Amino acid sequence: MTQVSDLNTQLVACGQDHLVDYLLKVTPDSARDAITAQLETIDFNDLGVLIEKYVRNYTPAASPASIAPAKYYSLDGDWDRAGYQAKGEELIRASKVACFTVAGGQGSRLGYDGPKGCYPTSCVSEKPLFQIFAEGIRRSQGKYGAVIPWYIMTSPLNHEATQAFFAKHDFFGLESGNVMFFEQGVMPSLDAQSGQILMADPMHLATNPDGHGGAFKALAVSGALADMKNRGIEHMSYFQVDNPHAMVIDPVFLGLHAFAEESSGEFSSKMVAKASWDEKVGVFCDVDGSTEVIEYSDMSDELAKQTNADGQLAFNAGSIAIHAIGVEFIEKIVSNPEYALPFHRAVKKVSHFDLSTGQTITPSENNAVKLEKFVFDGIPLASKSIVVETGRVEEFAPVKNETGSDSIVSSKAIQTERAAQWLEAVGVTVPRKADGSVDATIEISTLTAVCSDDLKGIDLPDAIEPGSTVTL
Ligand code: UTP
Repeated sequence: MTQVSDLNTQLVACGQDHLVDYLLKVTPDSARDAITAQLETIDFNDLGVLIEKYVRNYTPAASPASIAPAKYYSLDGDWDRAGYQAKGEELIRASKVACFTVAGGQGSRLGYDGPKGCYPTSCVSEKPLFQIFAEGIRRSQGKYGAVIPWYIMTSPLNHEATQAFFAKHDFFGLESGNVMFFEQGVMPSLDAQSGQILMADPMHLATNPDGHGGAFKALAVSGALADMKNRGIEHMSYFQVDNPHAMVIDPVFLGLHAFAEESSGEFSSKMVAKASWDEKVGVFCDVDGSTEVIEYSDMSDELAKQTNADGQLAFNAGSIAIHAIGVEFIEKIVSNPEYALPFHRAVKKVSHFDLSTGQTITPSENNAVKLEKFVFDGIPLASKSIVVETGRVEEFAPVKNETGSDSIVSSKAIQTERAAQWLEAVGVTVPRKADGSVDATIEISTLTAVCSDDLKGIDLPDAIEPGSTVTL
């Protein structure tokens, strides 16, 4: 245990005198020891610097001086799709690929009381997100005759609830030994004005998960990376928990990632064409020869509006947070402090216990800074990184907000649209309204198909009845 005087010195050095005073007052000793133990998990050397940089003296980072649109493998491009698919399938068949889902976020915008992965999402049977992915993995395992282990990153805030959910549902038919949960780290949540660490209640510091970029360290310290090495896993298929359309394992993408000359097999990404110049998604750019995601808020309107001769947006490659990541790449970056990912600041509402009044405050305005790392900051650390286009409907139906865009309502509409497109591709007639939208609600289980081709050879109706609700 750190000497009390050492801890106090560290606290004072980074402006946390309020906690020194509080610890003096806390009784009994066991309560003080419990809070001290939480404080001892914090690296105060780094925290002092971070508070100065991101709270007390925050200035937004300047956008890079020279940025160009990133090159990408376009959907209709002249590249050997079938060849890469065959190579990717070989990797999967050899059980060299695992799925990796980041599910440690707080999901505050969704307003759902539980881990986001438990949220009822499929458009007819309301299967939870975790079930949609689990069944996609089962389907893929059957298709390729392979074991596809699944690594799920949680955070201390939802770890137990996530594990209990899987246990309750018998791992949705997966072998429990092939599903591994591990927790990411947390950072203390800070008062946005003073930089002081907030208390969640009289006994606990207010903390937040350290961002999806916390995944790299968490993979290593949890033993997940070692487990992958033991199993002979070479690459991870990475996706977020809140996108039911993420293809759990995509042979074409994996084939390009692992074998294309332009790729180092370290960190590859999927993109969709931006819906509009001001869509709030990060954009893949080329910064001095290296691929990076530039956040929408960091790109000038002038650049975002630029078009090519054909009228298409020049900075068109929107990130949908689907990646293929090499196991060796993670080993490389976690073992070298030079590759530590930077933090970003997010200003959010955080309820907290006010030490001076003894009241619990539920703020109506943003009051706190959360420090988070972003997984895409790993991209420029790869020696060569590729970007591959996919269809928006095909792979992007995010559930982020309670209502409006990226909500369950918009996601379900996209789910039906994709099901309709898959059915139409194999000759089924789908009723459409005058505006082109589907006049039915259609769910295709991921046990049935994880891509349109999987529907070939399946007994399907000739046509979908207008206004009907269909599950396949
Ligand atoms: P979001 O950026 O949408 O954050 O996460 P969130 O926490 O889920 O939701 P809000 O912003 O509080 O409403 C995108 C993905 O990254 C994961 C999330 O679980 C989601 O899959 N994530 C995010 C983590 O795993 N850890 C984090 O610390 C943050």
